[in-house]
Amino acid sequence: MSGRRLLHGGKVFLRRLEESDLERCERWINMPEIYTIMGVFGPRTRTEQEVWYRNISTSRTNLVYAVCLAKDGRHIGNLSLFDVNYMHRNAGVTVFIADEEHRSGGLGLEAVSLACEYAFDYLNMHKLHAKTDNPVAGKLYLKLGFVQEGVLRQQSYYSGKYVDKILFGLLRDEFVPAN
Ligand SMILES: CC(C)(COP(=O)(O)OP(=O)(O)OC[C@H]1O[C@@H](n2cnc3c(N)ncnc32)[C@H](O)[C@@H]1OP(=O)(O)O)[C@@H](O)C(=O)NCCC(=O)NCCS
Repeated sequence: MSGRRLLHGGKVFLRRLEESDLERCERWINMPEIYTIMGVFGPRTRTEQEVWYRNISTSRTNLVYAVCLAKDGRHIGNLSLFDVNYMHRNAGVTVFIADEEHRSGGLGLEAVSLACEYAFDYLNMHKLHAKTDNPVAGKLYLKLGFVQEGVLRQQSYYSGKYVDKILFGLLRDEFVPAN
């Protein structure tokens, strides 16, 4: 497994998602809290989940990583670099830490920081973008140097109402890695 590790921080490391992670991912994506905030159609069937995995496991434009605890390798969430565009050298980033018990301890921040490092230093991206209606995620992006570029008005529909999403962008030389 260590050969497929991507980048290490003090608290988490990222590795490519494996088939053996699929059951756990299916459980997470079927939690209303996760599929709602991630804005995906849920709950998902096993077949949808398998098709999703087949697609991402060979994709060069939608890269999904397992966020794992550095101390014991436990898989605690997923992170994606999506819509990776090798001509314009930009990509989207999105992340979730599945269980509340692992949130608010700096793990999400470090995971996104590692992904930015990989995207800029290895994939040679010039710009990353993210959009969210979660203020915690917004704070995380600002800490890494992302700049608010706009508001997507009434972009998503949750629990009977439309909500705005904030659009963030990060140029390579604006990146402030988490320490
Ligand atoms: C968004 C998410 C990935 C952040 O990861 P996390 O590990 O919980 O957040 P971190 O501990 O790294 O905190 C990042 C910043 O947000 C702030 N923050 C964290 N938890 C917070 C909370 N409960 N309330 C307010 N601010 C909070 C912290 O101030 C931190 O900045 P700091 O280092 O100055 O203290 C995680 O909460 C999550 O998975 N949420 C649900 C899915 C989601 O919204 N994903 C974003 C989609 S783009």
